[in-house]
Amino acid sequence: MIRLIVKDGDGEELFNDLIEGEMNFLDECAENDVDLPFSCHAGACMSCSAKIVRGLEHVDQTLDGDKYIETDEDVLLSCIAGPKQESLEDTEEHIVELELLM
Ligand code: FES
Repeated sequence: MIRLIVKDGDGEELFNDLIEGEMNFLDECAENDVDLPFSCHAGACMSCSAKIVRGLEHVDQTLDGDKYIETDEDVLLSCIAGPKQESLEDTEEHIVELELLM
């Protein structure tokens, strides 16, 4: 299982919950009434970019599509990145912590 934590650039926590679905992080937060910034929803802009503070090994950077722009390894696009299936299925709780960059 994965606990997703999302903070804004000031360190304020916007989302902190266990996630179960194999859904990108942007949509996962929206499903839980937390709207993160986005524009294209297709991996082609940087509006939804976030730094991966913890849990890089539990993130699938292209779960829902291709990245059309280059980012650092520890920066994801929340509209296409989501949890790795094997990390979701693991009974141990893994933490993925993101800090919004926009
Ligand atoms: S909203 Fe444009 S890359 Fe995610």
